[in-house]
Amino acid sequence: MDDTVTNLEKGRWMVLLGPRRIGKTSLARCALSKTKIKNQIIIDAREESNLEKSLLRALLSSSRFSKKSSGTVQIGGGIGAIASISFGFTKGSSEKKSLSSFSISELIESFSSRIVILIDEAQWLRNPRGVSSLLAHIYDYHYDKATLMITGSAVGVMRSILEPSAKSPFYGRALTTMEIGRWSGSTSLGFLERGSKETGKEYDIHDLSLVVERLDGIPGWLTLFGYIFSSSNRSYKQALKKTEVEAFRILKEELENVGKLSLGWKRQISILQEIVETPKKFNELGRDLGINHTALSHNIDMLQRLCYVTKNQEGEYSIIDPLVSEYLREGTSAKSYAK
Ligand SMILES: Nc1ncnc2c1ncn2[C@@H]1O[C@H](COP(=O)(O)OP(=O)(O)OP(=O)(O)O)[C@@H](O)[C@H]1O
Ligand SMILES: [Mg+2]
Repeated sequence: MDDTVTNLEKGRWMVLLGPRRIGKTSLARCALSKTKIKNQIIIDAREESNLEKSLLRALLSSSRFSKKSSGTVQIGGGIGAIASISFGFTKGSSEKKSLSSFSISELIESFSSRIVILIDEAQWLRNPRGVSSLLAHIYDYHYDKATLMITGSAVGVMRSILEPSAKSPFYGRALTTMEIGRWSGSTSLGFLERGSKETGKEYDIHDLSLVVERLDGIPGWLTLFGYIFSSSNRSYKQALKKTEVEAFRILKEELENVGKLSLGWKRQISILQEIVETPKKFNELGRDLGINHTALSHNIDMLQRLCYVTKNQEGEYSIIDPLVSEYLREGTSAKSYAK
């Protein structure tokens, strides 16, 4: 946490990487609440996948231009007008212009001191090339004024930000990357114990350690369990069961959404099902599934970027989240979207 705040205050651009439900957003927001930098903007890419549009809207509503205009900020002729704004420099007397003619450059420069921009869940942004150009522009022209913090899984746009090719507009710019890992057993246990004590829920430390083993240090599931356990008179077993039911509902929705986005999803599900019980090496997977190496490599790459799968030192692939494994074992629901 302290590293994140220090990086922000030194103006370093940061990327917080990690699998689902690991605490990326929480860490980023906590750093924002602790930094002395008061100008802050948060963009959630799940709500708006066009970065230029959301950045303009957010900058506009907190810039001095909006404060000088009377009443509610009206942004040009609506979303269409915002989308048409370029992020180049616009000349002329800015105060007299209609709001829709402000550029991102002008808006950033309109702040009297540095601004932190959090782009949360950036893997959902569209147009990798456009995003890279926009970020490269801000980096080159406004580094002293704007500090970016980007969270997400290393997929889609995030990949082109993290591993820009020589052809990418973002190539050559420095980013501080931080990987957020799962909690250790003792941190997880301490978290559940503290929560139970605070809510006055009786617990047995041995039971809680079984829960920790099951949920494997993933804060999202531990918080869900903690809530279900502490807010009812359920036993730890009942609360764990309820946590799994709720988690499966969340996973089903999530996997269905990924399925809509990814054409190779049927094949990716079959790879996941193949490694549910035993981690497997690349060649074993190719052989057992009858998939050629190019297709297998493409699909595994996607699964790794979605943070469902990881590769160990022996080169074996396995599923990261134990509840994803459990969900796949249940089989039926997984088959329904692998059609
Ligand atoms: N340090 C923490 N202490 C307590 N709870 C935490 C902590 N970090 C994360 N959590 C909880 O875990 C859950 C997941 O956290 P968060 O949303 O920050 O993860 P994420 O990595 O951004 O996930 P996603 O990929 O779904 O966006 C949240 O409910 C949050 O409250
Ligand atoms: Mg998040």
